[in-house]
Amino acid sequence: MPRINKTVALALLIATSTIFLLFQLYYYRQYAPKYGLSVFGGKGHLSAKESQWLVVKKFLALVRRFNLPVFLVDTASLALLSEDAVLLKDSQLKSPHCSFLCTHREFTTFALLGNLWKYDASFLEAAEERGLEFLEIRGKDPRLVSMDDVSVNEIPLHFLFRLGGRMVHVVVLYERSGHYLWHGPLRLREPTDRTFAPFKRLDFGCHAGAYNRPELILTTLDGLDVLIPKNLSRFLSEHSQARFLECRYREARAFYQLYPDDTSPEAMDFRMKAKSLLHLTAQVLSQVGVPFWLSSGTCLGWFRQCNVIPYSKDVDVGIWIKDYKPSIIEAFQRAGLPLKHKFGKVEDSLELSFQGLDVKLDIFFFYKENDIVWNGGTQAKSGKKFKYVFPHFSLCWAELLELRVRVPCETLDYVTANYGPEWIRPVKTWDWKSSPPNVQENGVWPVREWDELIQVY
Ligand SMILES: *[C@@H]1O[C@H](CO)[C@@H](O)[C@H](O)[C@H]1NC(C)=O
Repeated sequence: MPRINKTVALALLIATSTIFLLFQLYYYRQYAPKYGLSVFGGKGHLSAKESQWLVVKKFLALVRRFNLPVFLVDTASLALLSEDAVLLKDSQLKSPHCSFLCTHREFTTFALLGNLWKYDASFLEAAEERGLEFLEIRGKDPRLVSMDDVSVNEIPLHFLFRLGGRMVHVVVLYERSGHYLWHGPLRLREPTDRTFAPFKRLDFGCHAGAYNRPELILTTLDGLDVLIPKNLSRFLSEHSQARFLECRYREARAFYQLYPDDTSPEAMDFRMKAKSLLHLTAQVLSQVGVPFWLSSGTCLGWFRQCNVIPYSKDVDVGIWIKDYKPSIIEAFQRAGLPLKHKFGKVEDSLELSFQGLDVKLDIFFFYKENDIVWNGGTQAKSGKKFKYVFPHFSLCWAELLELRVRVPCETLDYVTANYGPEWIRPVKTWDWKSSPPNVQENGVWPVREWDELIQVY
């Protein structure tokens, strides 16, 4: 009896082991290819990198099937790529790995041009089949928001694809005013969407952004075919200063209800000329590689009424003094804008003025000093110097008169410093030497230097 028992026990053991082994084999054949484990040697539990590679691979297969040409914009991945040393090290490794698409973060970011996206019911199914959880974040289409229009047309702004705690983030880029790309902020509104909330600090989420359309090239990263911006350093540098501020259309509408717009032929004529002068200014300064922002009255016009102030009679821009180069003057003159006056010097209170068609362009150079920023003013007939003091600010993109321009991100502080807390009220009599609350008298230029420091043409 004990003998038989032993045989039975042995047979049972063998049978169980065989079934277990078969099951394991079945499981592996069934699931391993699906999860792409073979690439990493199929060692059971997925590491963080393996999970990230997997979600990217599945995502890329999905968008390829639907002909959506996404491109990599993940700043952590692109920063790795732009370092030649890392590339070299990567090419020397033999075993499969995920060096670029997997970073220290739990997401990888791609971009898609909005006009290439169209709704397709089978897209959701196909995502589900691949085990990808899909979330679409929509928002208002800013291209349709204007002064008279309270349109609520919503467009897709972001897509999130999630698998096993890892994510692909797709930022949708839209062309605006025919010359730049824009993306909206990412706001998780529905409570169910908030389960995606651990993915904070996305590259393209906390605020809207603006970019030039990048040139793309196809490459292979970590065994996957991916489109990337051709000039990585340019793209990364644009990203670091891409924040975009939408004009405050609702407040501008309220302003125009209080103070109806001037639609006289003179005002329309000024707006048209100011618009072409602003476009020309942007073109000239971009040629010489000098960034500028809207200053004084032009900045107030954008902030208060999303337009130029018709009685302001000039266009005002600011430039950091570190960006000054003599070629600025030559470039404007070549563009048909003669120099009208040049006050001050690079070390102190530099100011340039060019004569456009009936409209003057004033360029104020800004100096950083301890905890303030200032620009100078000069009265030609007396040689008196003035100083306009502002709190520190950074620069953001905005749109004015169908042009992408920079404005101080802290626009309210800037405008308040320059025009006081009553900036909302239109004021037609303004004396640049005494009206601004931030003006300070700053001595007199020595008479012997007047020829050089006060040039009027
Ligand atoms: C990439 O962009 C930078 C900055 O705009 C520029 O200086 C550089 O020449 C560009 N590189 C190439 C290869 O085009």
